[in-house]
Amino acid sequence: MTPRARRRAVWRPIRDPEYQFFDQLPPPSAMLDEVIAGLTEQPKRIAPKFFYDERGSRLFEAITRLPEYYLTRTEMGLFDACLPEVHDRIGEGGCLVEYGAGSSVKIRRLLEELLPAAYLPVDISRRHLEQSAQALHADYPNLSVYPMCADMTAPFELPEVVAGLDKLGFYPGSSIGNFEPGEARAFLRQVAATLGAGGHLLIGVDRKKDIDVLEAAYNDSAGVTAEFNLNILRHLNSALATEFDPAGFRHRAHYNEGSGCVQMFLESVKDQSSRVDGRIIEFTQGELVHTENSYKYGYEQFAELAAGGGFKVEASWSDADDFFTLFLLRAG
Ligand code: AVI
Repeated sequence: MTPRARRRAVWRPIRDPEYQFFDQLPPPSAMLDEVIAGLTEQPKRIAPKFFYDERGSRLFEAITRLPEYYLTRTEMGLFDACLPEVHDRIGEGGCLVEYGAGSSVKIRRLLEELLPAAYLPVDISRRHLEQSAQALHADYPNLSVYPMCADMTAPFELPEVVAGLDKLGFYPGSSIGNFEPGEARAFLRQVAATLGAGGHLLIGVDRKKDIDVLEAAYNDSAGVTAEFNLNILRHLNSALATEFDPAGFRHRAHYNEGSGCVQMFLESVKDQSSRVDGRIIEFTQGELVHTENSYKYGYEQFAELAAGGGFKVEASWSDADDFFTLFLLRAG
């Protein structure tokens, strides 16, 4: 089918399209235990998944439009070449599982070019997930939409309702880089098991490149990334009734060449203490709280990681500068 004919293709749902919300989010007590465990370690850390409340998800969307943040526009620039080929390889009428209900612009492109019967976004931020899933349900009346609120870093099960459909996972934006390499392998294993043998995963991977380009992407001149980083404290304050003072911290980000990742921290600007569920957590002036690693991969390095995660590289698309690669993986 030519790209033009494909664009005119009509959705043929395999059953009456429906909307159903699934909730597998762990209770706030589990979240609190995890935060306390990270803040009592040395150095202190808060997991990057806690960036994403409704405001954090909006700030991340704003980051994707920043001039310094080349990742999103480079990845989307690959869609013209990638999506028609993915369509030809996997066919229509399956279930598109998106890990993280991210950019609605990206997912709309996929829905229109790949014509799945069902869309199942998995996200930790309930309100963001619900809003974006409902908007898609309204705009694509022939598509079944099954949002699932879950912490995708922990194992979760797909609902029975999509059991009979071929699965295509979509994990864009190089979010895989936010896992430590060992965790990334374990996560991919879990994804391979969820998608089932023969299931595909379209995954975006940010490549190693000039340090100045990398550091500018995480230290934008408009200060949006700084706000995103500080929002982790605001989110914990509202979700867990912690008492962090966001004004008492500042954003720090640099590329760690030895580890091959951009690291983000919140630096305490003074000696201070914060109450966390009855405990007092002390911060000294200049102390760094680690909030995120963003690993950058060589091509072969990622292919090896994917193999360790139970996937084979079936195809890939990179931009002319090798800044970013989209891999189509197949679960063995
Ligand atoms: C979601 N993830 C891939 C982003 C990244 O680039 O690691 C999160 C982010 N952190 C700062 N800016 C964007």
